[in-house]
Amino acid sequence: MSLRPYIVGNWKMNGTRAMLSEARAIDRAAQRHMKVEVAVAPPFTLIHAVHREAEQIGVGAQDCHPAADGAFTGDVSASMVADAGAKFVILGHSERREGHGETNELVRTKVQSALAAGLKVILCCGEPEERRDAGAHEKFVLNQLRLSLPESVDGAGEKLTVAYEPIWAIGTGRTPTLDDIAAMHAAIRGFLIERFGDAQGSVIRILYGGSVKPDNARDILGVAEVGGALVGGASLTADSFMNIALAAGDGEDA
Ligand code: 13P
Repeated sequence: MSLRPYIVGNWKMNGTRAMLSEARAIDRAAQRHMKVEVAVAPPFTLIHAVHREAEQIGVGAQDCHPAADGAFTGDVSASMVADAGAKFVILGHSERREGHGETNELVRTKVQSALAAGLKVILCCGEPEERRDAGAHEKFVLNQLRLSLPESVDGAGEKLTVAYEPIWAIGTGRTPTLDDIAAMHAAIRGFLIERFGDAQGSVIRILYGGSVKPDNARDILGVAEVGGALVGGASLTADSFMNIALAAGDGEDA
């Protein structure tokens, strides 16, 4: 069981083959910083190319369809992204939930099909601003997790990662206070132990995401129960992304 900090870049709908040089640079830097587990989730079109370039970093997808195959024009299944070289998939991102109407129930079926295809899963959760303002953020997030995660997962500690991404912090430059992050991650940990038992639930990594940058990464990654970061905008250049990874490794080389 790896307990290294886990720093994952979500490239979202960014990147053409010109970005492969950034992937190569991230991979080379990751080889020098083995205390941190580094991964990127490029768009579908780049998964195979990044996989071929990468010696050290993990490569994942940003979504998959719940069905294994069939007449679903424009969709991509879990086994397809696995075949392209993905080892994990990000599911339930707020941009999918909001922009594509994905419900908790749909996300759960995607989690099941991804696990069945041998992929690990990074399951995203996070509240909209009005829930935070109403003081209902914890209830909202735990309910998302309750409904988006299967009741049981064999080897949950190894196969699942949870990413807490408050929607109002994504791409805005705003972040919760460190105390707020600590409180939410503690609540998520409590839920994971309740759902998957102490042995598995206590080792599922909980990432923080939402405006993580090189200059706030050290503080955020130092918060209890923050096992890494899911990084959007700042993952698009090797320089800023690896400075975040470096902060996770406490700046020391392996
Ligand atoms: P930003 O780092 O750009 O805020 O995006 C976070 C995110 O949505 C990662 O999945």
